[in-house]
Amino acid sequence: MTEDTDSNGRIDPANDGDSESESKSRAQSKPESKLEPHTDGGTATGADETALDPWGSSTIADYGNLFTEFGIGAFDDALDGVPDPHYLMRRGVIFGHRGYGRVAEALRNSEPAAALSGFMPTGDPHIGHKLVFDELIWHQEQGADTYGLIADLEAHSARGLSWAEIDAHARDYLLSFLALGFDPEAGELYRQSDNRELQDLAFELGIEANFSEMRSIYGFDGGTDVSHLQSVITQAADILYPQLDEPKPTVIPVGPDQDPHVRLTRDLAARTRYFGVTEAYASFEADDAERELIAEAYDVLSDERADGPEADGVRCTHAADWLAGDSGADRDRSTMAAESEADSVDEPGSADAEGKSPRQRAIEKLEAAGKEPLRPRIRFLDRNATPEAFEALIERVDGEKRVYEGHVDGFELDFEEAESLAREVEVDHGGYGFVSPSSIYHRFMTGLTGGKMSSSVPASHISLLDDPEVGYDKVRSATTGGRETAELQRELGGEADECPVYELYAYLLAADDDEYAKRVYDECVGGERLCGGCKEEAAELMREFLADHQEKRAEAEAVLADLDIDLDSSRR
Ligand code: TRP
Ligand code: SF4
Repeated sequence: MTEDTDSNGRIDPANDGDSESESKSRAQSKPESKLEPHTDGGTATGADETALDPWGSSTIADYGNLFTEFGIGAFDDALDGVPDPHYLMRRGVIFGHRGYGRVAEALRNSEPAAALSGFMPTGDPHIGHKLVFDELIWHQEQGADTYGLIADLEAHSARGLSWAEIDAHARDYLLSFLALGFDPEAGELYRQSDNRELQDLAFELGIEANFSEMRSIYGFDGGTDVSHLQSVITQAADILYPQLDEPKPTVIPVGPDQDPHVRLTRDLAARTRYFGVTEAYASFEADDAERELIAEAYDVLSDERADGPEADGVRCTHAADWLAGDSGADRDRSTMAAESEADSVDEPGSADAEGKSPRQRAIEKLEAAGKEPLRPRIRFLDRNATPEAFEALIERVDGEKRVYEGHVDGFELDFEEAESLAREVEVDHGGYGFVSPSSIYHRFMTGLTGGKMSSSVPASHISLLDDPEVGYDKVRSATTGGRETAELQRELGGEADECPVYELYAYLLAADDDEYAKRVYDECVGGERLCGGCKEEAAELMREFLADHQEKRAEAEAVLADLDIDLDSSRR
């Protein structure tokens, strides 16, 4: 498999969807398990059951479910490969990813990479948005081409905001993004509504998506606005937009509610590709489960023959016999009694429509191929290639190769070489050559009043536009994870993991200072820290942060004015 789709073009929910560089890294463990102590601030209380809804309430009951149910990878597994990781990564605030390994690798090697995220201008930018701004800016500092976009089409169609409101909020988002350090010369800012190239890409991607799919992913129905559909396909175009000049690993930092968009886009990107690249063993086609079995047979049989006169002489019939159990399946015998009905119990894949197991199917195909030698090879499948592109690919496969009707097999290249060759030929012949986009997911901040942080409840969040004194007051009156009395707090310690104030330290106020964040945590759970003083300290830091941020916003006005972004749209 080269992309995250199965043979029906559906997304496999059971992996992190990324075999291009991190094949089977299945995420089982919770991300917290490695954090000692839990410096991530914990999760929202009273959250919904796990459901990823881009337009629903942004709470997640159990982040662990996202790994098992949706196949999001644990960020911990990618962290080692990240050069100089951001504090949000180190502290487990960024907890999940899809395919981030290839972005980290590109950053490590100073190869082309991109980062992009989008903001719906539905209200003031707040400290939750700051997480995403910071993630983008960090990627920009690491050398990625970085994009920030205003999702105005989405705000207008899905949220019904007027263009005048959208213009005003868009300005506020952009000022904060610039104030926090985004470099508009090195990166790009755009509005969806203004970007013709983006809309052309959206149109092309729309050809790959149909309404049934939209319905099953987003729950759309006959009453859904057509413009809402259009905003979804526009977001898919946003996600691939950084690759229009050249394919490159691209990360989309977002909250996990955006994962459906990421999955859809990964799928659409795969569907545009000219060639599929797979491993194969013989001239016939095999699905993943069949291929796994054939690979196993090949490995055992070629090892057995390696020293004998029959070296290299493994033929399809041998593998069929081996799989049928004449020799190699002895291993299976002991378990067979236990598995009374099917041999598919411990095997990959599942029975097909006729009830045949992958093993049966593999055996039949191998038998049909008879004396054909079994030999590992790389197969290029012609998916959407033009005839010229397919011809050119055949031409460029070095070494021994075999050309068939809809595919060409190469015997002397490895998988990675094959993938870049396929991409190169595609791009040379007018294709996009998209690299499957990656994503990273951050935890949602708990509201200051407990429950979820909501833009529509001012006391629950701190707007980046809040007067510093207001910010101070909001922190002073925040809910805490403290005990009823000071005595109890000294005796039992506070519950930092349940405390929105601790979250403020970990997500924002402690900034890059891990020691400080850890000290607050340790003192809290150790009972040395009492909530009154702790909140005062946090409130002062918040006041300071807001004052400083707003000064920088004022400076950013001039920068924004010089940029080519129309914030007075004539739309109606
Ligand atoms: N849908 C996103 C939101 O609700 C905004 C968005 C639009 C976006 N295009 C994007 C996010 C591309 C990430 C990447 O906030
Ligand atoms: Fe929260 Fe601070 Fe109280 Fe601990 S001491 S519960 S971190 S406010």
